Amino acid sequence: MKLADAQIIQLPKIEDERGNLSFLQQGNQIPFAIKRVYWIYDVPGGEYRGAHAYKHNKEFIVALSGSFDVVLDDGVDKKVFSLNRSYYGLYVPSGLWRYMDNFSTNSLAFIASSTVFDTADYIRDYDAFLTYKKGT
Ligand code: TYD
Repeated sequence: MKLADAQIIQLPKIEDERGNLSFLQQGNQIPFAIKRVYWIYDVPGGEYRGAHAYKHNKEFIVALSGSFDVVLDDGVDKKVFSLNRSYYGLYVPSGLWRYMDNFSTNSLAFIASSTVFDTADYIRDYDAFLTYKKGT
């Protein structure tokens, strides 16, 4: 997949004086069926997460609270997406190197995934990722 396929997707935002509400649901908002969700929290200052690619898994990442950056890399170009609102997220196609950094205090990263957890789907070595990209 190409870096250009990664995109920020706006979610519905139902504004209400009692507090706002956003959602995503099967068949809407994001371009894959959700098989798994996970979240990352309590990230110490200066830490990063990720630094791997998935062969098949696609993701949709939302900063439910606070802010962080998602860096995507297709082996040639890099793009940084700063996430800091709970009503939009980043669609990350498969086949891209990605890491997350610059986590603010108390940030909460919510990730919807297209596959169940599978260690065989991970490429954790950057050189192996470059070799993989040459073969795709
Ligand atoms: P990992 O994907 O390496 O974290 P990150 O890329 O966000 O830094 O996952 C960290 C650990 O958690 C690893 O041992 C695998 C485990 N894990 C699961 O068991 N299920 C999951 O859905 C995820 C995302 C991770």
